[in-house]
Amino acid sequence: MQTNHPIVLLLIMLPLMGTSCFRGGENEYKRYNHFQPGKVWLDNDSIHINAHGGGILVRGDTYYWFGEHKTAGRHGNRALVGIGCYSSKDLYNWTNEGIVLAVSQDTASEIIQGCLMERPKVVFNESTGKYVMWFHLELKGQEYTAARTGLAVSDHVTGPYTYIRSFRPNAGTWPMGFTEAQKNRIDNTSLEWWTEPWELAVVDGSLARRDFNAGQMSRDMTVYVDDDGKAYHVHASEENLTLHISLLTEDYLDFEETWTRVLPAGHNEAPAIFKTDGKYYMITSGCTGWAPNAARLSVADQLLGPWEYLGNPCVGEGADLTFDSQSTFVLPVPGKKDTFIFMADRWKPTNPINGRYVWLPIRLETGQPVIAWHDAWDLSIFDQ
Ligand code: DGJ
Repeated sequence: MQTNHPIVLLLIMLPLMGTSCFRGGENEYKRYNHFQPGKVWLDNDSIHINAHGGGILVRGDTYYWFGEHKTAGRHGNRALVGIGCYSSKDLYNWTNEGIVLAVSQDTASEIIQGCLMERPKVVFNESTGKYVMWFHLELKGQEYTAARTGLAVSDHVTGPYTYIRSFRPNAGTWPMGFTEAQKNRIDNTSLEWWTEPWELAVVDGSLARRDFNAGQMSRDMTVYVDDDGKAYHVHASEENLTLHISLLTEDYLDFEETWTRVLPAGHNEAPAIFKTDGKYYMITSGCTGWAPNAARLSVADQLLGPWEYLGNPCVGEGADLTFDSQSTFVLPVPGKKDTFIFMADRWKPTNPINGRYVWLPIRLETGQPVIAWHDAWDLSIFDQ
């Protein structure tokens, strides 16, 4: 048989066409009716969702998922395109809303292509009607040394967002509860890292003192809006050793001078906060780069602390590595009391575009949040 026969060609082509023959097909939109943690998750164009380190904003009957747009290959963690957004009515099927904050080509811009833009979180300010995006920004060519928080704003949830500025927060202000002795302490800057005297100095605030004038470092972050409308910026600070929680101004566009140090020298990042039964819970990770480690759960009666460490919320096989993922957000499911989805990233540092999403239900067993693995699950799990 000749290989250029149309039937033979079709038989050869069919497997190669693969997903492309599904692309954009109208009938493909309602593809999923459940979550499959860790699997490729296709959007309405049949392309793997590209919204890493993300967070979700609910507006009306629609969920908006904002995240880092990654690219293929070893530079794929750099911001080469921008921050992306997807929308959904059911949390399973997502429509690509495009890039909502694009990187700049202007060499003078802080968000020039090649910088790092991580963990974007968007909140809506009821009084101004503005959508406010905060994200972790690292300046191009400086690796992770700039440690700044970035701000962008839009009148529309799906953007475009206008980049406003970046900075290190809380310059010139002391954290809550800092004593006069702590404010005035002269630190021994030659203490060897990871020794007990060094750790005691960090707990006492040596790094917060170091950065008092320039502003505090701000890396992995989230934004949490409380029931009273007050918003809080939560970020890994002090060389990733101590988390800071800061009250934002009423318009969410700046920091008030109210902030607190959380779990000093605890070495936490990837914070995600939720509230149930009058208590605030925070899930974090340890600091091991792109590699997973065990999740950590902490609890507080008030957002500004004090926070108490409870242990690993994950149970079962894989719990010691958070099921090969790292926290990014906890989504309260609207209309379902006390139901929360743990959202995490399974990073793929050598080909970041292939990073996967691990979404799992949080069970409130004996009052304490617990996360177990499911190969597949849907929202009816919360009715059981
Ligand atoms: C872990 C953080 O959680 C990520 O957002 C990213 O900053 C990587 N570290 C970089 O190694």
